[in-house]
Amino acid sequence: MHNAHFINMIKLAIFASGSGSNAENIARYFQHSADVVITLILTNKADAFVLERAKKMEIPTVIFSKKELLESDSLLKLLQKQEIDWVILAGFLLKIPENLLKAYPNRILNIHPALLPKYGGKGMYGSRVHEAVVAAKEVESGITVHYVNSCYDEGNIIFQATCPVLSSDTANEVAEKVHRLEYDYFPKVIDQTIHGMEGLKSY
Ligand code: GRF
Repeated sequence: MHNAHFINMIKLAIFASGSGSNAENIARYFQHSADVVITLILTNKADAFVLERAKKMEIPTVIFSKKELLESDSLLKLLQKQEIDWVILAGFLLKIPENLLKAYPNRILNIHPALLPKYGGKGMYGSRVHEAVVAAKEVESGITVHYVNSCYDEGNIIFQATCPVLSSDTANEVAEKVHRLEYDYFPKVIDQTIHGMEGLKSY
């Protein structure tokens, strides 16, 4: 009778509201992991392209309403039923409610496409962020991975990486450089954080 050796898988749920290129990038990174599994991809938008990406990767999806997220425990109960260990926000545009924050203290990670604390907060997402960076004539931008707390982009910063912003850069050109950083670093930062390693230094 062999004793079963079950690795305790670390189960991740990814929340996305839009295209989901980060969600796909994270799922591919962990596709052959020995101890990490993307259990669920969840979205508040029934037409979010992230659903197509999840289907292609055969990752179960959940569509929920803003009301369910903000006014009920149904989503929290689902995450707990699925034994989710970490929640990853990858282009998720709603505020995480108290019940989830309490159930997942320092277990919810978000990526912001700028160097927080600047260019963060309500309404600062997508191209608006890069337009603000260009308008302010910044010489650099980048990404911030941070823990999520009750005030949008103000949780403790885990990691930042930068890219140069040329005076000739358009917001789209800045977005391209920032997306590159997201794809290069976000999965690695998640990997290091969930394995409790003091990790990647900020670049
Ligand atoms: C990314 O720029 C990310 O930094 C921000 O939202 C965007 C999501 O893009 N949080 P995608 O949906 O992953 O393509």
